[in-house]
Amino acid sequence: MIITVTMNPAIDKTADVDNLRIGELNRVKNIIQDAGGKGINVSRTIHALGGDTIATGFLGGDAGKMIGLSLTQLNIKHDFVFIEGETRTNTKIIDKSNGNLVTELNEPGPDILPSELEQLCEKLEGYASPDNIFVFSGSIPNKISPSIYGQLIRKLKKKRAKVFVDADGELLAEAIKAKPFIVKPNRLELKKYLGIDEDIDDAMLLEKGKSIINNGPKIAVISCGSRGAYFINGDTVYYSPGIEVHTNSTVGAGDAMIGALAYGLDNNLSFEESCKLSIAASAGACTTIGTKPPTKELVEMLVNDVNLIKIK
Ligand SMILES: Nc1ncnc2c1ncn2[C@@H]1O[C@H](COP(=O)(O)OP(=O)(O)OP(=O)(O)O)[C@@H](O)[C@H]1O
Ligand SMILES: [Mg+2]
Repeated sequence: MIITVTMNPAIDKTADVDNLRIGELNRVKNIIQDAGGKGINVSRTIHALGGDTIATGFLGGDAGKMIGLSLTQLNIKHDFVFIEGETRTNTKIIDKSNGNLVTELNEPGPDILPSELEQLCEKLEGYASPDNIFVFSGSIPNKISPSIYGQLIRKLKKKRAKVFVDADGELLAEAIKAKPFIVKPNRLELKKYLGIDEDIDDAMLLEKGKSIINNGPKIAVISCGSRGAYFINGDTVYYSPGIEVHTNSTVGAGDAMIGALAYGLDNNLSFEESCKLSIAASAGACTTIGTKPPTKELVEMLVNDVNLIKIK
């Protein structure tokens, strides 16, 4: 089973307006609300592929209840810690008459009480076993230490669970020190981790990025958007160019990639098959609107187009 952890979920509210005017009254033409959060997206992909997953993390208030309800409606198992604070709402304003220009208003999210954090840690330890995979995705609430993923990885590894990490900045750096099973930085996240400011091409980034696994993780996946991804597993390196698809939204492509990798591992697919599935699922996610996962049928079709090349 795959347990996803979303510590700072959100309701994603998308509002369409015509000709957004700052400082004036704007009328919203259409509004949609989605249960958002990177770990939640990972669970949605695993569920779409037919895998076994539970979404966990923190939820609070009416927004939190709405997220729980929408997961129940999607038939996705969830086991969140219910907190005193209110889950945040992130608003995207799409200016229809200005080339769909997106203006984002992201709330910081609620503060988490020490007792609430303790409850989540106990819950996760309760799920930890050699058969279970954990996926830590995305940012964390204010006031929680950026070493939290690292601390939890150490605890979960003691029970021989495997941990995947998709994070940025100090959260990622601290997680790497605790030697998770897989990390999946995108180009920007990896450049930040390596302290590279200048523009470098993918091949150069791979050369420098290989050092990431000397520091701990068994596997590193470097995702390069439409150009595909590098998969580094010990001394073996694969590259797969992205599949050309009709793209609606690339947001959440990385989450679909992690979801498919975790699904592959949990269902005893080979490393190579799991890499292929992750390229197919992430391309499939680009064809859907918003962060909606691709269907299993689409992923099974796209996987035939994946070219996985062993480069070392
Ligand atoms: N335009 C695209 N066409 C086809 N595949 C794509 C495209 N964009 C992304 N992908 C696939 O998705 C994978 C992950 O994309 P990307 O590197 O953008 O991740 P990310 O920045 O972590 O995404 P996010 O955090 O928004 O989920 C890529 O390695 C590739 O396989
Ligand atoms: Mg990402």
